[in-house]
Amino acid sequence: MSEQDAVRVLGIETSCDETAASVVALVDGRPRILSNIVFSQIEAHKAFGGVVPEIAARAHVEALDGIVEAALHEAALDLGAIDAVAVTAGPGLIGGLIVGLMTAKALASVTGKPLITVNHLEGHALTARLTDEASFPYLLLLVSGGHTQIVLVRGVGHYERWATTIDDALGEAFDKTAKLIGLPYPGGPNVERAAKTGDPKRFAFPRPLKGEARPDFSFSGLKTAVRQAATAIAPLSDQDISDISASFQTAIAETLEDRVSRSLDRFRNEFPAIAVPTLIVAGGVAANATVRATLMALCKTFGFAFIAPPMNLCTDNAAMIAWAGIERLRAGLVENDAMHFVPRSRWPLDSVADPLIGSGRRGPKA
Ligand code: KG4
Ligand code: ZN
Repeated sequence: MSEQDAVRVLGIETSCDETAASVVALVDGRPRILSNIVFSQIEAHKAFGGVVPEIAARAHVEALDGIVEAALHEAALDLGAIDAVAVTAGPGLIGGLIVGLMTAKALASVTGKPLITVNHLEGHALTARLTDEASFPYLLLLVSGGHTQIVLVRGVGHYERWATTIDDALGEAFDKTAKLIGLPYPGGPNVERAAKTGDPKRFAFPRPLKGEARPDFSFSGLKTAVRQAATAIAPLSDQDISDISASFQTAIAETLEDRVSRSLDRFRNEFPAIAVPTLIVAGGVAANATVRATLMALCKTFGFAFIAPPMNLCTDNAAMIAWAGIERLRAGLVENDAMHFVPRSRWPLDSVADPLIGSGRRGPKA
């Protein structure tokens, strides 16, 4: 396939607090990111300690046209040179999803090109094929502000959720812990920074569900333990904050180790012919060095390959949506009536898995 024959897809992502657009091409069967623009709204939400849906939706309306233009400009392409428009159609905050989907429908309509409605979680699930050409099947650990899941990725459109959280998402646990000890939003990076100078053994926080046969996650008990410890020694000194952060992070690492190992075992049992299976991590919490090191060591012990895509593709972005669009085009999985697709604030990747009480309650972030 020559450069002229390459498939080029414009991706749009507006499901939470990032307005993003990207052009990804498939040239000679190989993916190439031609542009990847992400405009973070963190500053607009900071004062409120979390994402405010109404503010997010308005910010997407204001920013999206310019971001799409910038993505095309950086890719040095006119709109007419795009072969399809892929857009996150759920799950997420409904206001943002409407803005993204309506824009994508307009672009598809004026260009006469196909519209591809993408599940945001599918974007995360397929990113490792964009960055590392991972082959099916593999395991995905998605740890973000709104989701904590282990998904078996069998193929494009074939996902099985093997584990999920029964209460808070992991990123949410970081954010809530940060708030409890007076660190600003978003909490994850601040807890990680404070932990560097802390004593990880000072507080004996619980390791929720550790040792249990079920493969799921739970983090709300950990948050409660942090609250009790912080209340008992308030007011907190800088050293107290660091010690709580370090003890919390160590509890998280040990919990992940135990919980994830259940699914690694299951994968081994279900796919005995795969000599070196792969675990992929995605989501904002993958930025945490302790979490990454823990997973890497765990994979080594279990004989798994470990892939952590570059951070800008682990967190929310539109390149993963454009790529999911290309994967869907290649697999012949484009809906014919996508122009009538109604955005879905809730949209499980695995429609068969039972919803667990409390999981994904926050919904908007994935
Ligand atoms: O994937 P993401 O950017 O957005 C969605 O949730 O979709 O993830 C954001 C989450 C937040 O909860 C944030 O606190 C957490 O990822 N996070 C971290 C770190 N960086 C971001 N958690 C722990 N350590 C970090 N370094
Ligand atoms: Zn996400």
